[in-house]
Amino acid sequence: MKLESIALENFRNYSKIEVNINSDLVLILGANASGKTNFLESIYFLSRLKSFRSPDQFLVKIGENYFKLAANVIARPDLIRPKQSHGEIAASSRQGGTPRDDQEKDLEVIVQVTPILKRSFKLNGQKIKRGLWQSFAAVLFIPTDLNLFSLGPLLRRRYLDDTLSQVSKNYAFDLVSLDHVLGQRKALLEKIALQQAQREELSFWNEQLITLTLSIGQERKCFLDFLNERLNSVYSQLSGFKNKFAVEYKTDAQGDLHKLIKEHEGAEVRSGQNLIGPHREDFVLNKDGLLNVYNSSRGELRSQILAIKFLQAEYLNSHDFKPIIFLDDVFSELDEERRIKLLENLSGHQIFITTTEEHHLPEIKQAQKLKVENGQFLP
Ligand SMILES: Nc1ncnc2c1ncn2[C@@H]1O[C@H](COP(=O)(O)OP(=O)(O)OP(=O)(O)O)[C@@H](O)[C@H]1O
Ligand SMILES: [Mg+2]
Repeated sequence: MKLESIALENFRNYSKIEVNINSDLVLILGANASGKTNFLESIYFLSRLKSFRSPDQFLVKIGENYFKLAANVIARPDLIRPKQSHGEIAASSRQGGTPRDDQEKDLEVIVQVTPILKRSFKLNGQKIKRGLWQSFAAVLFIPTDLNLFSLGPLLRRRYLDDTLSQVSKNYAFDLVSLDHVLGQRKALLEKIALQQAQREELSFWNEQLITLTLSIGQERKCFLDFLNERLNSVYSQLSGFKNKFAVEYKTDAQGDLHKLIKEHEGAEVRSGQNLIGPHREDFVLNKDGLLNVYNSSRGELRSQILAIKFLQAEYLNSHDFKPIIFLDDVFSELDEERRIKLLENLSGHQIFITTTEEHHLPEIKQAQKLKVENGQFLP
């Protein structure tokens, strides 16, 4: 998948710019606060219809009431193939299923924030609903990814959800249903605690929760197995270190869910919280038999996270969704040898790299350089 051109209007510190992209390697150079991350954010927005760092209203240029993004991409004609798990899709494409040709897509997004919030999404000139948006896959590396294993499970679940909802529309729909079921179930738990409802009423929501826990769990397991099989070799390729990793999926989906939910019902009513389900899951990395977050150096953790992110791209790739890669400020954290290894491993993707210092980048002739200053690209 490739971005060919993009136009921004009132997006963050950009008033109006248009950029043609003519390379698979795009270097965005500029001082702090010039607009490098904002530019990546605008492309990312067209992939997901949301930012990776803030709600929509902060994306509108201060003093304006809307932003508009328009782009031309080359991508798969239908990213979404419902009624097929992505495991089946991978199997069929490996068995020589016909690969579909990439095609050009025109994307347009307008988000107005005042006087009322209004969003319009257009694909090839046709208005479409947010839930049916099919643009292109993207994988983002940002400095805060370094916290993936040192902070709570939310970031890790996000990583799973972000990967899987790009390859499986069913997964994305399941996440929406899960939100609804958890909301309804929580409200019911609170009513039961106040004796305004009966415990028996939970069984309807329990069944829904179990179905979703199993289907989400199946997709998560498939991806974590993929990580488990490849992490050792990717880590040693990227870092030069040799360790044995095991990815451990912490899930309720493998036990007897009916029994588990029954056992937790009392505590759920008392706390008013849903204690079982995909929203409580996690995964950890064990390095040489120990929980890695406690026995890795910062540099090792960084390489592990790069490997995990790289495998995210590989997973999308293996499902026919070769993602566009964004490396925001990642290079300044890596030594020269590891920068080169990372780029080598990512070759074949379109890559956008931001940096403040040009010398952080390996000398690559065919790269397109975009110099940004105060929300303007310099000629
Ligand atoms: N809604 C907005 N309207 C106008 N300016 C904004 C808006 N949101 C953010 N900015 C400004 O955009 C500028 C550029 O931000 P950006 O995050 O792109 O910087 P950067 O070039 O990535 O810098 P760094 O090297 O520090 O990461 C910042 O000064 C920020 O305050
Ligand atoms: Mg930045």
